[in-house]
Amino acid sequence: TPHLLGIEGMTEKDITPFLDLAESYALLSRSRNAPRDVLQGRTVINLFFEDSTRTRTSFELAAKRLGADVVNMTVATSSVNKGETLLDTASTLNAMHCDLLVVRHAQSGAPALLSQKVEASVVNAGDGMHEHPTQALLDGLTIRRHFGRLSGLKIAICGDIAHSRVARSDIHLLRAMGNDIHLAGPPTLLPGALGTLDGVTLHHDIDEALKDADVAMCLRVQRERMGSGLVPSAREYFSLFGLDRRRLALAKPGALVMHPGPMNRGVEIASDVADSPQSVISEQVEMGVAVRMAVLDRLSRMKNPA
Ligand code: CP
Repeated sequence: TPHLLGIEGMTEKDITPFLDLAESYALLSRSRNAPRDVLQGRTVINLFFEDSTRTRTSFELAAKRLGADVVNMTVATSSVNKGETLLDTASTLNAMHCDLLVVRHAQSGAPALLSQKVEASVVNAGDGMHEHPTQALLDGLTIRRHFGRLSGLKIAICGDIAHSRVARSDIHLLRAMGNDIHLAGPPTLLPGALGTLDGVTLHHDIDEALKDADVAMCLRVQRERMGSGLVPSAREYFSLFGLDRRRLALAKPGALVMHPGPMNRGVEIASDVADSPQSVISEQVEMGVAVRMAVLDRLSRMKNPA
C-alpha cells in the first residue's frame, strides 16, 4: 500500500509529480472546477491527535473537492480518552475499510506504525518533531510558483528548528531539489548535526542567514515541546531573532516571506512583515489545499491503478 510518511529519501523525480499535479489542482480550484469523481466512493478519515487549523481543514476540503466521503475523528471526543491504544484505534478504523487515513500525532513515527497495521494509505499530517511532508510540498509549490523553479535559491529558515517537523521536511525537500539552505536560531534551538548536511549552513546571527536570501521563512517557537526552563521570553526572542522590516531588507529585493502557521506575531515575525506585499503566507494556505488534493489523488491511483 502506498503511503506518504515523510520527504526524507524522496528524490526530485518523486517530488515533482506531486507539485505538478498540485499546480493543476490549484488552477482548477480557483475556477471552482475540481473534478468531483476522482475520489468518488472512497473514504478519507482525518485522525488528529494534536491541534490543527490549516492541515485538518485543508485535508477535509481537498477530500471533499475530489468527491470522497470524509470523516473527521475528533480525538477529544473519541474513545482514545477512555484508554484505547493507538493500535486498537487503528484496528477499529481498519475494520471500517477506509481508503486514506490522515494522521497527526505528537509521537514521531506514529503514522509509520499505523501504516503497518491498516490497509488504508496513510498520510503523515505531522508527527512530533519528525516530519510534515505535505507542508514541505506546499512550501515547495509556493516557492516554485514565484520563481518559476525550485532550485538554485538561497532559502533562510529562521527560528525554532530543533522542534520543527516543518523545518525537517522542508530541509529534505529543498536539498533534494538543489537549493542553498541557511538555518538561523538560538544555539539551543539549532541542532548542530544539521550543519553537516550538504547544502545546509547554520547561523546564530539571523542577519547572516537573511543576507541576499530569496526566501525568508519564519518558524514559531514551539513552547509545547519545551521544558519550562528553556522557554525564551517573547520580547528577547523578537529582538534577537524576530523578522522585522530592517532584517527583511537584508534579503534580496522582493524576497518571499513565508510562515507555515500558526504565527505568533511580535515573537518570530513582526506584524507588518507578515502582512506586507512580500508575504505569501495566505498563498501557502491556498497551496495547502491543492497539495493535499494531489497527495490524496496520487496515493489513491497508486493503490488502485486504472
Ligand atoms: N502549518 C500547520 O501544520 O498548521 P496547523 O497546525 O494549523 O495544521
